[in-house]
Amino acid sequence: MENRYAIILAAGKGTRMKSKLYKVLHPVAGKPMVEHIIERVIETSPKEIVTIVGHGAEKVKAQLGERSQYALQAEQLGTGHAVLQAAEFLKDKKGTTLVISGDTPLLTTQTLDNLFDYHQGKKASATILTAHAEDPTGYGRILRDHVGIVEKIVEQKDATLEEARVQEINTGTYCFDNQALFEALAKIGTDNVQGEYYLTDIVEILKGEDKTVAAYQTEDFEESLGVNDRIALAKANQIMRERINKMHMVNGVSFIDPASTYIDAGIEIGSDTIIEPGVQIQGKTVIGADCVIGAHSKIVDSTIEDNVEIKSSVVEESIVRKNADVGPYAHLRPQSDIGEHAHIGNFVETKKATIGEQTKVGHLTYVGDATLGQDINVGCGVVFVNYDGKNKHHTTVGDHVFIGSGSNLVAPLNIEDHSVMAAGSTITEDVKRGDMAIARARQVNKEGYASHIPF
Ligand code: UD1
Ligand code: MG
Repeated sequence: MENRYAIILAAGKGTRMKSKLYKVLHPVAGKPMVEHIIERVIETSPKEIVTIVGHGAEKVKAQLGERSQYALQAEQLGTGHAVLQAAEFLKDKKGTTLVISGDTPLLTTQTLDNLFDYHQGKKASATILTAHAEDPTGYGRILRDHVGIVEKIVEQKDATLEEARVQEINTGTYCFDNQALFEALAKIGTDNVQGEYYLTDIVEILKGEDKTVAAYQTEDFEESLGVNDRIALAKANQIMRERINKMHMVNGVSFIDPASTYIDAGIEIGSDTIIEPGVQIQGKTVIGADCVIGAHSKIVDSTIEDNVEIKSSVVEESIVRKNADVGPYAHLRPQSDIGEHAHIGNFVETKKATIGEQTKVGHLTYVGDATLGQDINVGCGVVFVNYDGKNKHHTTVGDHVFIGSGSNLVAPLNIEDHSVMAAGSTITEDVKRGDMAIARARQVNKEGYASHIPF
């Protein structure tokens, strides 16, 4: 294989996004656009990658880290000027250089490899990746002569009415003979409506020097979608989601309604798991086999083991172990660890809580900063009182404990195995193994008192 290099254009502000966030950092299926790009680029095995940064340079660098070198484009004078900034790294290299925009997150590795191969096959100085667009609005148009040879690329804003009718568009992705690229870049001017150095002008420059410019048309226009505004961003998310969902279906996951299911890139899901409508699965989440993820659940950065049912609940930075069930309407906040066969019922909130095997926390309960052993029954409306207004305190509950409904366990506490908290107790002291704790006022019945009340 020839030496491959890559230049990623990511210095633009993205004015049309009307956003505080720099354009290439806007997420598609949970990942910044430029992250999708670098992952695909790396899969084509370039020797070096140079990313052109400008607006939000530090944030883009933080995102891509050491996978790329960086050239700063201090002023955004156009895509041609942007590529020129990579000269200090690449100017003298021999090989093929891929130039790709940070705002085309749907391109696949297969298409990039096809582009490299086509470029090699044609022995071209430049090969443009093009696509046929039903609606080419906003893209540069590919103008060919009567025998189909590429003549130039004309931007939407510079196009005549006739040119604007052309449906073959420039995807903003190219392969170049590296040395021809940097020689020609020096010759680009700014004679256009936007007064910018257009990379696309390189076509005419190379052709003027009798060099070969080829065009490789992908079959799939959707792949080349360029995200310049929020409408295209929503479209890119929709297409990426469809792709992700299809991949999971091929792997044996059932979706009740894939169109309303939102799964980030990079999520793993085991086979025979069923995903109900409105579910969002995000971040670094892994879901096992034979699970049911119920309607409108949101699962973020969590591990769900096999055969778990999550009913309409929110799970964040937590683990739910095999055969457990959660919800409906539970909220597992960070560092919850739900044991095998445990049951977390409706309107239960947990945080920094370990719930042992077979333990049941059925209804309307808050468990914060606590370690619960196995086979515990937590009644309805129990509060682990973990905060004194200043500090958080921890409660430990042993195995086979019964916590009656309406109890408050005021931390710090140690509740030993086989003990019982009577319903309605406010427990403030440790409880020994086998004991029952009652901490509530005794009942007094006032004889006949109610007969004076007129209802
Ligand atoms: C560009 C192409 C157009 C193509 C389209 C495909 C040019 C002149 N036009 O238009 O033919 O159809 O992409 O999506 O190349 N950037 C910089 N520095 C700059 C300007 C831009 O780094 O000075 C970066 C942007 O961050 C972006 C990329 O280059 O990632 C493309 O710029 P953008 O402004 O989106 O160009 P388009 O108008 O989409
Ligand atoms: Mg663009």
